[in-house]
Amino acid sequence: MVEIKAVGVVGSGQMGSGIAQLAAVHGLKVWLLDSDPEALSRAKTFIAGNVRRMISKGHISQANGDNALSLLSYTTNLEDFQDADIVIEAIVESEDVKKNLFRQLDRIVKPSGILASNTSSISITRIASATSRPPQVIGMHFMNPPPIMKLVEIVRGADTSDETFLATKALAERFKKTVICSQDFAGFIVNRILMPMINEAFHALYTGVATKEDIDAGMKLGTNHPMGPLELADFIGLDVCLSVMKILHAGLGDTKYLPCPLLIQYIDAGRLGRKHGIGVYDYRDAAKQAQP
Ligand code: NAI
Repeated sequence: MVEIKAVGVVGSGQMGSGIAQLAAVHGLKVWLLDSDPEALSRAKTFIAGNVRRMISKGHISQANGDNALSLLSYTTNLEDFQDADIVIEAIVESEDVKKNLFRQLDRIVKPSGILASNTSSISITRIASATSRPPQVIGMHFMNPPPIMKLVEIVRGADTSDETFLATKALAERFKKTVICSQDFAGFIVNRILMPMINEAFHALYTGVATKEDIDAGMKLGTNHPMGPLELADFIGLDVCLSVMKILHAGLGDTKYLPCPLLIQYIDAGRLGRKHGIGVYDYRDAAKQAQP
């Protein structure tokens, strides 16, 4: 089985920064890459702050935290991934953009390297078709935020080898995650069920069934969900939710997966969720108050 010691992470947004942090805290060498240097610099500050908080709360020792930070390198150059045992991609949820990246990774990463995608919904088989190594391409779907959430959903493409699956599973278990395994159909397990629920919550808001607060309170208190669906959509990013709904619709062919017009309108208005300060809810005042 491939022994994973060095990890490349592509995309330093919400998911990539958390995956990089997790790998470094578990003693792996990590290169975190983003095409946007500002995103990379935000990720560096974010990870350093999280690691400091983990030390101060006693979750990890000072030595473990210092070691994690020393294991992390930040780059905008894909060529740095040559020696990675696995590259985990966490860039924008677009099949064409991901395929283009995997084509480049296939050229750069050593032949034994695994190429994993954190995609929420896109076919691993199709992403793998952009490479010359489909047996070494796999879905490794972390939940948000990766350092906290206990689950990793592993998705085997049509040609993913047993060796790749076992190495990826072992890595997730090293991160102390529970692994579930999905076949390669749009949305896999978690988003196949979650996203239609979120989309339905938008329909309830759109058609005036209830206020956003009542929809969220109904699902939190009525069904014991830790977050309401609209609040969760803001947390995930409305752009990510829309991409997943489009992929469910295209991949499964049922009109029940058509994205709600209100979800589309919010995105057209730049209301992408927490990461942009406003989505279904407005977080801008809270962000100002949190500033020192
Ligand atoms: P994000 O928008 O926070 O971050 C994406 C990052 O990728 C940005 O910093 C962007 O500059 C960078 N990027 C885009 N194209 C690039 C390229 N070609 N090369 C290098 N960097 C590039 O997105 P987020 O939320 O982290 O999502 C990333 C992936 O993870 C998506 O596939 C999404 O579906 C998946 N995902 C998202 C979850 C969520 O709750 N947001 C949960 C689980 C999976």
